[in-house]
Amino acid sequence: MSKVKIGIIGSRFQADCIAASVRMMPDEAEVVAVASPSAGNAQAFAERHGIPAFYADYREMLKDPAIEMVSITAPNRLHAQMTIDAAAVGKHVVCEKPLCVTLEEADEMLAACSKAGVLLMYAEELFFAPKYVKAKQMADEGAFGRVHLVKQSEKHSGPHSDWFWDVNQSGGGALMDLGCHGIAFCWWFLGKPKVKSVYAHLSTQVHGNRTKGDDEALCIIEFEGGATGVVENSWTKPGGMDDTIEIFGDKGQTYADMLMGNALPTYSEVGFGYAVEKASTTTGWTWPVFEEHWNYGFPQEMRHFARCVRGKETPISDGETGRVVQEVLCAAYASAGLGRKITMPFRPMGIVKPIDLWLEPELAASRL
Ligand SMILES: NC(=O)c1ccc[n+]([C@@H]2O[C@H](COP(=O)([O-])OP(=O)(O)OC[C@H]3O[C@@H](n4cnc5c(N)ncnc54)[C@H](O)[C@@H]3O)[C@@H](O)[C@H]2O)c1
Repeated sequence: MSKVKIGIIGSRFQADCIAASVRMMPDEAEVVAVASPSAGNAQAFAERHGIPAFYADYREMLKDPAIEMVSITAPNRLHAQMTIDAAAVGKHVVCEKPLCVTLEEADEMLAACSKAGVLLMYAEELFFAPKYVKAKQMADEGAFGRVHLVKQSEKHSGPHSDWFWDVNQSGGGALMDLGCHGIAFCWWFLGKPKVKSVYAHLSTQVHGNRTKGDDEALCIIEFEGGATGVVENSWTKPGGMDDTIEIFGDKGQTYADMLMGNALPTYSEVGFGYAVEKASTTTGWTWPVFEEHWNYGFPQEMRHFARCVRGKETPISDGETGRVVQEVLCAAYASAGLGRKITMPFRPMGIVKPIDLWLEPELAASRL
C-alpha cells in the first residue's frame, strides 16, 4: 500500500518534531504539505523538510484530495475547529495535546470524526517512549506484582512561545501543558481504568509577572481498583527538560529517567550546539541527549497512526483518551480552586477554560 500522505498545520516547535519523526520512519507515511499563517513560515518549513506544498491558510491545504491525515500542531485553542474542519472533508486527524480547551469541544471533535468516518488520534507520545513502553511491558508481565502507584513528572523552565503563557489561548498553565502527559500516562499504564477522584495543588511560584497560569502543579488521581497516579509538573525548573516515571507494585518497582538517563554526562568549558530541550547553557556539566525524538516515541507514534489509517493497527491513543485527560484536567483545576478532592465523573459544562475552575472557586463550586 502507498504511504499515508500527511498535511501538517503549524510550522514551529511541534511541527518540526512531527516532520522529522515521519522522516525517521518513512516506510508508512510522508509529509506532503504544511500550512501556517505567518508570512514565509510555511515556505521556510517546507524547504527545511523537503515538503512539496505549503499554504498560509490551513483550509486551503484541506482542499488537497491527496492529503489523507492531518497533524495539528497549532495552539490549543485552535485544535477543535481545525479537527472539525479536517473531518468535514474526510481527513483523518492527529491532534497534539491537550485535545482542546473545553469538554464541549472534546465532544464536538469526537462527534465530527465519528460522523465523517475518520480517525481522531490523540498524540500522546509517552505511550510510545521506548523506556516507558518497556516499563509497561514488565508491569503487564507481572514483574512488579499488583501495581498500586504510578508517578510521572515533566518539568522545565517554561514554554518557548508566548501563547502558552496566555491562559486565554492555552486554557491553563503547567498542569494543562505538561500534566496532560502524566494523566494520560498513569491511566494508560494501569490499563485505562475508570478515574474515581482527583486532588490537585497548584501555585504560581516564579512566573507571576508573565502568566495567570499555574507554574507548579501536583495532582493525585485515584483509579478504580485502588491504584494511585501522581503527576508532578513545573515551569520553574532551569537546566533543561526533565521527564521521569516511577512504578511501584507489591513485588517490585522500576524507575525511568527518559532524558538524563539516556544522556552523556558531559563537561565543557566552551560549550557546544545543543544539549536538551530548554537547556539554557551547554557550558559546565550538562546532559546532552541523543536520539531525542526517538526516546520520546514521536517517530513510533506517527508510524502507528499511519498504520491505523491503513487499517493495520487500532489507535492506542484516540479522541476518547484525550477526552478522559480533559476531564481530569478540569477536575484538577476545580480541586485546586476548592481545596478538596473532586469525585468523578466531573463534566463542568459552560466554562470557557479549565483554569477558570482554579482562578474562580465559585465557578468550580457551581459545577459540583
Ligand atoms: N507532544 C508534545 O510533547 C508536544 C510538544 C510541544 C507542543 N505540543 C503541542 O503542540 C501544539 C503546538 O505547540 P508548539 O510548541 O509547536 O507551538 P509553537 O508556538 O512553536 O507553534 C505553533 C504553530 O501554530 C501556528 N498557528 C497559529 N495559528 C494558526 C492558524 N490559525 N492556522 C495554522 N497554524 C497556526 C503558528 O504559526 C506556529 O507555527 C500545542 O497544542 C502544544 O501543546 C506537544
